Amino acid sequence: MNTTNEKSIQGEAIDLSKVEKAVEKYKNVKGALIPILQMVQTEFGYLPAPAIDLISERLNISASEIVGVATFYAQFHLIPRGQHIIKVCCGTACHVKGAKKIAEKLSETLDVSLGMTTKDKVFTLEEVACLGACSLAPVMMVDENVHGKLASDTVADVIKEIKESGFSQ
Ligand code: FES
Repeated sequence: MNTTNEKSIQGEAIDLSKVEKAVEKYKNVKGALIPILQMVQTEFGYLPAPAIDLISERLNISASEIVGVATFYAQFHLIPRGQHIIKVCCGTACHVKGAKKIAEKLSETLDVSLGMTTKDKVFTLEEVACLGACSLAPVMMVDENVHGKLASDTVADVIKEIKESGFSQ
């Protein structure tokens, strides 16, 4: 394996020497995997596949086991995250009020699939369970801001307003 540079799933070069550094720092520590993953995530913002492969090789743990650990803890992400996280609620109240259409419209407006990050890395679009604002259904959150009583034909306007406010830069 090339340990200096590899491509991530989104095509950018990953400097694997940074992963080597994390492995070196913790390799003799009991329970080394979590601090190594934390260090790698801090470095890249997520856990790139080439980094997982390298950690797997160095710690002699299967990549699928590492992915299992990473998906168990909410703090780890297997895909690149955007500057801003959009969480569209798919809980019961929102579902009844058309959350599926809202999610589809967001996906179309941002040109990104659910669970993925836009090419410019500004937005990550996620589907989540109840956001605790059912009376405002259907609801989405952009970072810490709740947007409620959404309609599929106004979602594009909300995104436009967010971009125009400079919020996305
Ligand atoms: S179901 Fe969407 S906020 Fe509760």
